Amino acid sequence: MIQVAVCGVGRTGSEVLRALLDSDPFHLTAAFCSAGSEKAGRDAGEFINRPNTGVLIREITQIEQTLAETHPDVLIDFSNAANSRTILRACKKSRTNVVFCTTGYSEADMLWMTDFTRHNKLGVVFAPNVTLGVNVLLAALRLVARALPSFDYHVTETHHSKKYDIPSGTAKKIANTLAQELPEGADIPIDAVRAGGYVGMHTVLLASDYERLSLTHESFSRRAFVEGALTAAEFVVNRIGWYEMEDVLGMRAAQLAATAVS
Ligand SMILES: NC(=O)c1ccc[n+]([C@@H]2O[C@H](COP(=O)([O-])OP(=O)(O)OC[C@H]3O[C@@H](n4cnc5c(N)ncnc54)[C@H](OP(=O)(O)O)[C@@H]3O)[C@@H](O)[C@H]2O)c1
Repeated sequence: MIQVAVCGVGRTGSEVLRALLDSDPFHLTAAFCSAGSEKAGRDAGEFINRPNTGVLIREITQIEQTLAETHPDVLIDFSNAANSRTILRACKKSRTNVVFCTTGYSEADMLWMTDFTRHNKLGVVFAPNVTLGVNVLLAALRLVARALPSFDYHVTETHHSKKYDIPSGTAKKIANTLAQELPEGADIPIDAVRAGGYVGMHTVLLASDYERLSLTHESFSRRAFVEGALTAAEFVVNRIGWYEMEDVLGMRAAQLAATAVS
């Protein structure tokens, strides 16, 4: 049984709670909301319209004490980028590994997080794009860009009207991945659409004068994020080091092998 804590019980974190309560290999041990949140003190089960679990949602200010009491193996974070240092410092003390699914980290945050993880021998999966399908799309795009370097590439992302970051982190990651494979200076425009209840759709269109190819990934439900987060949690539970979803899905090794062969 993998003991799991959840930080951030908003739209996605609540889905993580539901999945944890439904799945055998995982057990919810702790849940955290923001300081001063009205969710503090509520039972995590009651909060998602399930029977009480005995796990009370605590304010992030209580994370150190709560992790020390509950000893989770892994913490899954869908909260706020401002929390990264608080989470890692607390996890160092309780020897809890982390799956960071939150987005919006600065370069300085990233440097601190990678450094802290390595120095303190923690296990972290950094997963700003946690969906399994998106990560396979990224691997596929590397091959596509290598094979078709002269085509024009265009990324379009579509999300619900409340998503504030534009363009999405995933769209930027797609463009960066393509840029690594395409000739230097290749122009990769990103269009963003904000409309209704779209969970998340990313399309890469590529075209020459004579043909076009398009690859689309769409998440139908937040459960797509949850599946990825739980897969990452299972992966990192007994590991030390800094990992990304490519590692979780075994695609980094495959990429290295492909490079060695070519
Ligand atoms: N990796 C991926 O593929 C992926 C997928 C979906 C979302 N995300 C990212 O995950 C994050 C959350 O997304 P969401 O859609 O679930 O947003 P959301 O509904 O706004 O949920 C975020 C929750 O975090 C809580 N929170 C904010 N500041 C906090 C703090 N300092 N400590 C503890 N909790 C805090 C808030 O809870 P209170 O109500 O208690 O204030 C809020 O309910 C965002 O960064 C989003 O971009 C990533």
